[in-house]
Amino acid sequence: MSGTLIVYFSRGGHTARVTRRIMETMTQAGSDCEMMDIVEAQQEGIDWDKYDTVVIGCPVLYGDFDKRIKAFIAEHQDKLDARHNGFFCLSVVARNPAKATVEGNRYMQKFMAEQPWRPQHLKVFAGKVDYPSWGFFDSLSIKLIMVMTKGPTASDTVIDYTDWNEVEAFALQLHEARTDG
Ligand SMILES: Cc1cc2nc3c(=O)[nH]c(=O)nc-3n(C[C@H](O)[C@H](O)[C@H](O)COP(=O)(O)O)c2cc1C
Repeated sequence: MSGTLIVYFSRGGHTARVTRRIMETMTQAGSDCEMMDIVEAQQEGIDWDKYDTVVIGCPVLYGDFDKRIKAFIAEHQDKLDARHNGFFCLSVVARNPAKATVEGNRYMQKFMAEQPWRPQHLKVFAGKVDYPSWGFFDSLSIKLIMVMTKGPTASDTVIDYTDWNEVEAFALQLHEARTDG
């Protein structure tokens, strides 16, 4: 057991990009790190003996995390708890700094309330708004959130709200935790 695995779900690609940055930053720092989509993890299985650290990443879609990610956590909680572990999520409400903390992010709080896993490392990132790539109803739903939270509603809006320095800092925190033992 000497590697790190990040299992992620990404609908639009942004969580995949965040996952990749974490992987690259950990690799540069000296950790052996891989990433795996949740579908591959579920269908092909994981060689758990390879990993001393497993991290899970997921965007918030319609107020919730993907059901496959939640099922994966429920099925493998014992294996997660036997390793260094972490969980991160992305949401557009987290572009507001008060909602970019574990305590201030209602999705993270809901997740902690509804299931028993207690990740050692938890992180909330702001995600991406990309109306042109979303369908009509998806865009409309996010625009309603934006109206309520005073965000952009123009249909051509593409904004990456992710603080990439925070992404790298989280990766280094994971690297240091596993190299500290
Ligand atoms: C269909 C859809 C529903 C979303 N629902 C929420 C939501 O309820 N709350 C929120 O803060 N962000 C919401 N978002 C924003 C996503 O969390 C954000 O765009 C994230 O970066 C998407 O990551 P992905 O590209 O990996 O799928 C939603 C985005 C989409 C496309």
